[in-house]
Parts: sequence; C-alpha cells; structure tokens
Amino acid sequence: MPFAARVSQEIKKPHLQIRGESSLSGEIKVSGAKNSALVLMAAALLTDESLILNNVPELTDIDGMSAILQFMGVKLSRSQSSLQLNANQIQHVEPPYDLVHGLRASFFCIGPLLGRLGKAKIPLPGGCRIGARPVAEHIKGLKALGAVVSVEHGVVSASVPGLSRKLKGASVVLDCPSVGATETLIMASVLAHGTSTIENAAQEPEVQDLANLLNEMGAKVVGAGGPTITVEGVEKLYGCNYSVIPDRIEAATFLLAAAITRSIITVKPIVPEHLNAVLQKLRDCGCELRYENNSITIFPGDIKGVDITTQPFPGFPTDLQAPFMALLATAQGTSVVTEKIYENRMQHVAELERMGACIRLQGNTAVIEGVPQLSAAPIFGTDLRAAAAMVLAGLAAKGTSQLEGLKHLDRGYENFEKKLNLAGANILRHQN
Ligand code: EPZ
Repeated sequence: MPFAARVSQEIKKPHLQIRGESSLSGEIKVSGAKNSALVLMAAALLTDESLILNNVPELTDIDGMSAILQFMGVKLSRSQSSLQLNANQIQHVEPPYDLVHGLRASFFCIGPLLGRLGKAKIPLPGGCRIGARPVAEHIKGLKALGAVVSVEHGVVSASVPGLSRKLKGASVVLDCPSVGATETLIMASVLAHGTSTIENAAQEPEVQDLANLLNEMGAKVVGAGGPTITVEGVEKLYGCNYSVIPDRIEAATFLLAAAITRSIITVKPIVPEHLNAVLQKLRDCGCELRYENNSITIFPGDIKGVDITTQPFPGFPTDLQAPFMALLATAQGTSVVTEKIYENRMQHVAELERMGACIRLQGNTAVIEGVPQLSAAPIFGTDLRAAAAMVLAGLAAKGTSQLEGLKHLDRGYENFEKKLNLAGANILRHQN
C-alpha cells in the first residue's frame, strides 16, 4: 500500500492531505481581516444602535466572539459576510470563562463595557502556545482613565466610581506598542469626559480600521496609525454600516504560497501599504511584484535567503514569521529569522525539520540553511500561523503530507484549502 494511503489510514484525527510539488495559477481572493473584524465587533458595545459590519470572514474566532457578545445580550445576525449587531440591551457584563479562554480577542470587551456602562468583569484570556499574552498595559491604561481594576481568581473586575460612572480623559504612555492595549484604550476613551492621549501606540492597520469605524459612529479619534493617538470624548455613539479591511496576513500568506511553489498568481484585494515590510522581503529574496488597482501579482525568481526580524508595524509582522520561514527553508543560502514579539513562536521549526529543513534554533533566532526540496511527512500546526506555514511547506514538498491541527488553521483562514485548490493545489480535508 502506498505510503500516503497507509499514513492517512493511521491518522484518524481531522487532517489535510496536501499533494506536494504543486503549481498555482490565477487569482486568489482575500477575505476581511480577522484581527480587525474581532475588535470592530467589540465596538458594537459602545452604542445602543445597530452596527452593520461587512466583509466579515467566516472563522471560528468570529463565531467565538459572536457567542461572547450574544451571551452579554447583544443581538447578532449574519447574512453571508455581513454581521448586524445591536447592543441596546446588555444584560451581563461578565462572559463565562468557557467562552473566553480560547479567544484572546474576548478581552476587547472590557474597554467598551467600561466606556459605556462603567463596569466589566472579563476573565483573563490566558496564555497560548505563542506566549504569556499579558494584559498589564490594558489595565494600566484603564486605571489612568479612572477605572478601579482588580484581578482575582483569573477575572479582571473593573468599575468606574462616581455617580456618572464615566471615565475621565487621561494621558497614557504604553511600555510597548501593544495592539490590544491600544485598541482597548481607544474604545474606553471615546465616551469619556475630556480628552485622552495614547503614546507609544500600536500603528497596525487594524488599529486604524477601528479608529475609522469609531469616527463613522461619531467618535473623535485622531492620529491612529501613528505613535500618538488623541481621543476627544463624546456623549454618544451611533450605529453605522462599515466594511472591514482586507486581511493583510492572509494576503501575504497566499503570496508566499506562490513564492514557495515558484508560481505566478494574483492576490486581491490587497492594500500594499499594509504590507510594505513583507513585500520588500519578497523582493529581496527574488520575487518581482506587479501592483494593479487593489491587487498584487507575484513573479518568483530564484529564491535567495534573507534575514528577518519581527517588529511592531510598520516592521515585519510576527504573524508572517512562520509562513515566510517555510519559504526560506527552500531558498538558496542562509537566512536568519529572529522573533522579537512573542517568547514562544518558533514551534514550527521542529515541524519544518521533520520535512528535511536545515534549521539551527538558538532561543528566538533560527538560522536556516536552504535545501533544494522538502520531503512530505505527517506534520502538525502548532498555532494559527504555524499551521498555515506547514500547508505552504506541504505544497512544495516531494510527496504527500498530512497536516493535523486544523482547529488552529480554521481560526484565522477562511476556506483556506478551497481557495488554494481553486488556484491549482490538491489539498483534501479529512474530517476524521
Ligand atoms: C494582536 O494580538 C493580534 N491578535 C495578534 O495576531 C498579533 O500577533 C499581535 O497583535 C501583534 O501584531 C488580534 O488582533 C486578535 P499585542 P495582541 O498586545 O493584541 C506584549 C494572529 O495570529 N504585551 O500587540 O495580543 C505581548 O506579550 C494573532 O492573528 C505586553 O507585554 O498583541 C506580546 O509579546 C496572534 N503587555 C507583544 O506585546 C501587554 O499588556 C504583542 O502583543 C500587552 C502585550
């Protein structure tokens, strides 16, 4: 019996069967950004009017956030990629741990609940495979805005003293440009009395998308996308109809799928300025990129090794470190990849080594000697982006690979294998 069939029989868990030595062609469609949609959903808590979000991807993380909001009393309905949310009847301000613990984005609720109702009790989101994921910066900022915050038994309890239960504008300087803390503090301050400033703010496009939504709702947020954000508190926010930005991480993952299979494909829609650091590295390693309207077509050449260090935006994004490493595993020459954002985001190195990659790991720095070709193997996706990286490796490897860990993949990539198969890949999903 051929190896692949035998291995497939032995693996009973849900897995993807990925045929190697694939070549891709045509156009791959990019969905709405997971890391924007999740925080925009939380922003619905800031108004008693209906908020309509378009271009929302169908992902398990979105389902998880929907469950949390519905538990609190938000009325929520979905039609295709549009979500309608209405938070005029919030009954609970403490989502249960079993809804929260797997979803970091659940913590996005604390800012809007405090800003609108003056109270919130959110279980700590806990760590995950990539790191401890602390929320100290969120709590520091909320206290600066006048909230009383305590952490007991794994639950963050926050309230605003005084009859008005309104937060007061303040100046906050973040110790690190945390995306979540920046978003939490923007949402907490839009209904506060007075003006707030957030310095050393995260500059990610998803932060800008949140600010754009809030301003459409009647807020006064200035400077998002830069290091200093100013928020002038207003009395009330209103509903609106808003479209989520394209997912830059998904878009770049598809560009990397083309590069690793040496294929020419077009990725659309894409906002190039959301990905300048990544696009530069693709050019540096030998790919030509053609920009047209809101699409990019990639022409891979001979792929050479490059060095990458992950940084806050506009630097190279940590979420693309693993997918890019899969490409570098088959590049000519040596690459050095350093992960500076998370303390434990190199677990895909062992999986790539199982496929014949030649990587030396020292702490959070990986030295990669490119090999001519990877070889198929049973592999595991240790976190969301590592799972995507392993799909890319499987597409290029010699033979057929089996990838487990689909619950990670399905958190952040909508119809991932369907989109790749439409472009010529041969990936089969075995549910069990
Ligand atoms: C967001 O996480 C994204 N998630 C992550 O995407 C992304 O990797 C990350 O930003 C960085 O870009 C969502 O938007 C839902 P951070 P977040 O707060 O907000 C430290 C994916 O794959 N830190 O900027 O949790 C923290 O430990 C996910 O889609 C503190 O020290 O990221 C980490 O090392 C993974 N204290 C670094 O900052 C704090 O209070 C970045 O965290 C907060 C964070």
